[in-house]
Amino acid sequence: QLRDNTIIIVLGASGDLAKKKTYPALFSLYSNQYLPTGVKIVGYARTKMDRAEYHKRITSYIKNADEETVKTKLEEFKELTTYVSGGYEDDESFRNLNKTLEEIESGFQGNERNRLFYFALPPSVFIPVAQHLKATCYSKSGINRIIVEKPFGKDLESARVLLGSLKQHWGEDETFRIDHYLGKEMVKNILVLRFANIAMSAAWDKNSISNVQITFKEPFGTEGRGGYFDEFGIIRDVLQNREVLRAIPPIEREDTLLGQYVAANGKPGYLDDDTVPHNSVCPTFAATTLWIHNPRWEGVPFILKAGKALNEAKVEVRIQFKDVTQGIFKDISRNELVIRIQPQEAVYLKLNVKTPGLYTRAFPTEMDLTYKRRFADAAIPEAYESLILDALKGDHSNFVRDDELDVAWKIFTPILHWIEGKNGPAPKPVPYPYGSRGPKELDPFIQKYGYKRSSEGYTWPVTNTS
Ligand code: BG6
Repeated sequence: QLRDNTIIIVLGASGDLAKKKTYPALFSLYSNQYLPTGVKIVGYARTKMDRAEYHKRITSYIKNADEETVKTKLEEFKELTTYVSGGYEDDESFRNLNKTLEEIESGFQGNERNRLFYFALPPSVFIPVAQHLKATCYSKSGINRIIVEKPFGKDLESARVLLGSLKQHWGEDETFRIDHYLGKEMVKNILVLRFANIAMSAAWDKNSISNVQITFKEPFGTEGRGGYFDEFGIIRDVLQNREVLRAIPPIEREDTLLGQYVAANGKPGYLDDDTVPHNSVCPTFAATTLWIHNPRWEGVPFILKAGKALNEAKVEVRIQFKDVTQGIFKDISRNELVIRIQPQEAVYLKLNVKTPGLYTRAFPTEMDLTYKRRFADAAIPEAYESLILDALKGDHSNFVRDDELDVAWKIFTPILHWIEGKNGPAPKPVPYPYGSRGPKELDPFIQKYGYKRSSEGYTWPVTNTS
């Protein structure tokens, strides 16, 4: 399915996304021979630099670039890459880019010319770039595709405007919208766990499940990059992208807890970040509860939590089952199925077993599938590697469709407008100390939806396998 005669054009090649994600992913795909035969890569950005400087930068983007094996591959990879500098809004620059593309293509065999444009760009230039590429750099004898990334607007209306403008130039089949969490190994695993296991799917509904929690925790704050964040906030940055279902009504204010981190343990508070307006009420932590109105999930709360400057880095989905209500065992821990997305990918099921010994007592323990231990030699690909490969193959299944995005915005737009004070005074987020578990109001918030902590302070003994 991969097409030869392909050029991948990275627009915004000198920016942060290209540096942290796009180039490392392209390099890893190249090293593992996943890119199409004879592929070429063209970086495009406003910064003026020659090929040597561009290659120096690429080297600085790649981890362990001075290890022997990496070094050899990196030299080969650099040979595939070219740099063009130009603006994002003028015809001349795009004509110049097209000229370079045609020069490279003149070395291809056969007539097919395929172009994949990767937008590692700020959203303010999405539309002019999309328009110029279509007008000036669109291949007439092959496949053209664009990869774009959030933020896709700021609410339902602005997202519709943005998507509508992109659609004037690029069809849905040519457009690949990244939410990189959809490319993560353990997120993809949910589909398999649910549909390939009768033992799981039989219990996967409101009759057995009490509540579901999806948690996204980062241990760092905005650290000087608050300018972007303040405009969007934690809900748009994380929550709004993660859960898309048609049967979910807009979130209610009562189902929302907002927080903002303050200085603690020698770390600065959000408002101490010079790039953040001094009186900002932008939430850096949010917990919201969604309800799915369909026969399977009626009445089961889905609690989404996301925050910056917390006590740990952790992304997980936690399905908590109901209490055992009959029989001889009382006051015991609930079963939980936890899918740990990162770090240390794992699936574990909390079960009650008999305490070893002469007594019959239920004791909480776990069936633990830690990937590093079970699949010791398997390399888990980075989300971006898997998504770029999908886009090269034309597979849309792990990308965000336009109608999904529309539904996601419908769910979140009312509370976003409320938070921004569009229909009255803006709510003030509650403070939480940098490095803490979040606002002290969080535990009562979760308990309100029926979540119960395990008895005897059970914690999962994460095995140190690294
Ligand atoms: C992005 C958010 O979607 O995910 C960032 O915009 C966040 O704020 C990032 O830091 C985390 O991604 P990962 O893959 O490092 O967990």
